[in-house]
Amino acid sequence: MALDKTEYSMSAAEKMSNGAVGRNKNGVRVDRLDGHVHQNGSVKKEKRRPFIESFEKIPLLTAATTFIGFHLILLMGYITSIIFTPKVAREKNRKGYVPLYDRFESFYSRYVYRRLRDCWNIPICSCPGSEVTLKDRVTHDCGWTFEYTGTRSTALNLGSYNYLGFAQAEGSCSEDSAVKIKELGCATASPRIEFGTQKIHQELEALTAKFVGMEDAITFGMGFATNALNLPSIVSKGCLVVSDEKNHASLILGLRLSGATIDVFKHNNMESLRQVLHSAVIKGQPRSHRPWKKILIVVEGVYSMEGSIVRLPEILELKRQYKAYLYVDEAHSIGAIGRNGRGVVDYFGVDPKEVDILMGTYTKSFGSAGGYIAGSKVNLTKIIFFPVVRL
Ligand SMILES: Cc1ncc(COP(=O)(O)O)c(C=O)c1O
Repeated sequence: MALDKTEYSMSAAEKMSNGAVGRNKNGVRVDRLDGHVHQNGSVKKEKRRPFIESFEKIPLLTAATTFIGFHLILLMGYITSIIFTPKVAREKNRKGYVPLYDRFESFYSRYVYRRLRDCWNIPICSCPGSEVTLKDRVTHDCGWTFEYTGTRSTALNLGSYNYLGFAQAEGSCSEDSAVKIKELGCATASPRIEFGTQKIHQELEALTAKFVGMEDAITFGMGFATNALNLPSIVSKGCLVVSDEKNHASLILGLRLSGATIDVFKHNNMESLRQVLHSAVIKGQPRSHRPWKKILIVVEGVYSMEGSIVRLPEILELKRQYKAYLYVDEAHSIGAIGRNGRGVVDYFGVDPKEVDILMGTYTKSFGSAGGYIAGSKVNLTKIIFFPVVRL
């Protein structure tokens, strides 16, 4: 198996000799990034191993057949879209709002994805453990509607992110959850800000904040919505978001809804990020050339489709250099990497408080549902009470 090895090059901050704080060559204050985060958030200094990422090379035949297959399906989709009129609703009354789907996305979901989705998108009727029970169904109209056959099949689960094995039908996680649901019910029927906050929410938020090493955290019932609905309260028109090209759909939707200008940098490529930040700072806003109200870098801890780990120490250095803010989505890194399982900040031994917003979900490693954003008390209070916050 051929492997592509990328050795992590040590940044100025990391090359500094012992001592928790120093200055880089631009005179900017930088903290050493070679320790591990303790439970109380302090950083223990330790010699760091080089950061080596290895990716399997795709065999030419696999790449070629995938490419041809994908383009054939697209071609069939285009032909069907010309012959058959769409059966789906169009977006209406969205004057003043950004469209929820661009033209390609709506074409893709109607004419390409719909025909194929039954290959992987099948309802399950069991706990998503190492095996899943599928509810068999058939379609007679190319995936527009389905009929259940009444039978079930068991399949090996390669599709969910049960990193720590907590999502099982037996064991303390499911039994304790059942006890709590019996005691407290499974909904408050009110938003958090009205009457929906229970002691258990506050306990969860305090525990989450302590676990990720931040001052405070707010929790939400859905990971996707945590990104999609909170990003618009962090950035708005006049702000620039510098987003990794492989960011998750929930981040992309949140950024689109925010009305902020979005600039994309190449996946995990620090030179590309530096160039985008550099030109943003030099040019400012289009036409007026005023400085951006805020520049926010948005990345993920671990990218689920690529398996790559964000180059956090280098991003932190660029963040400081260009006075930007940083939002890290830890959906796939929390619980999964780092010496204490505390995510990518723990993995690199970075002080979590250097990141402005640490977002994560309970859906993957924790085998549950929902999401959180963690940060300083001040920032989070502003997110709750003000439509657009100044971090
Ligand atoms: C990076 C990332 N962020 C957010 C989410 C949304 O999380 P949830 O599935 O809990 O809605 C996902 C889901 O896969 C994800 O991969």
